[in-house]
Amino acid sequence: MNPLNHVAIIMDGNGRWGLKYKNSRNAGHKAGLKTVEKIIKATIKNKIKFLTLYAFSTENWRRPQKEIAFLFSLLENFLSNRLNELHNQNIRIKIIGKKSFSQRLNKLLNLSEKKTLKNDRLQINLALNYGSKSELIDAFKKIKKNKENINERNLSRNLQTKNIPDPDLLIRTGNTKRLSNFLLWQVAYSEIFFEKKLWPAFNENDYKRIIKEYKSIKRNFGKI
Ligand code: IPE
Ligand code: IPE
Ligand code: MG
Repeated sequence: MNPLNHVAIIMDGNGRWGLKYKNSRNAGHKAGLKTVEKIIKATIKNKIKFLTLYAFSTENWRRPQKEIAFLFSLLENFLSNRLNELHNQNIRIKIIGKKSFSQRLNKLLNLSEKKTLKNDRLQINLALNYGSKSELIDAFKKIKKNKENINERNLSRNLQTKNIPDPDLLIRTGNTKRLSNFLLWQVAYSEIFFEKKLWPAFNENDYKRIIKEYKSIKRNFGKI
């Protein structure tokens, strides 16, 4: 049975779900947040130590301003309402991506990270304004500035995911088979599951089924 330490999720399909069932993409984002809560619970239950959630990509700024504003208001409400609860559950929050939002949101994100820094039951990495290409470029720039050697260890250490083990399992919901600029370096050896279901429809049983299948895979890492 494969150990499962880190699950990364591309939570895709909110907009389509919202349009189909509620005639509004934003209603899909709202429903998607409920799935986030369910999956956090299930992750704790399965004693998984790291959960990375792709919430907003560097490319998502190309969406209509109204949708972007709604997404960030959802996030802000979620964090301000749930931060204490997450903290009491011994969950650590870490943001990956560039924190260049409104002053209020930046402050809330910094507070969330600082308050939960010592928690060790589950670490949730929230990928916000995250893009793997820009993360890699920044890492190379830091290596150059510090006159370090270019090698795998130094590259990993200069990514925003430093100190986080690479994902064992990557799940993308929403019936699309692409990575959309997510953790390109880090998923080099992850087991990848593309799920047909849209994120708001994804549930604990789907998650359980994937975990079960993941555990039975023969992971070679180049060996036989
Ligand atoms: C993913 O769902 C959530 C974000 C990108 C924030 P989408 O909004 O991409 O949903 P679809 O793919 O348009 O259905
Ligand atoms: C990826 O989904 C980003 C997030 C889930 C946050 P997108 O819906 O933005 O991806 P593309 O644009 O269809 O590749
Ligand atoms: Mg999408």
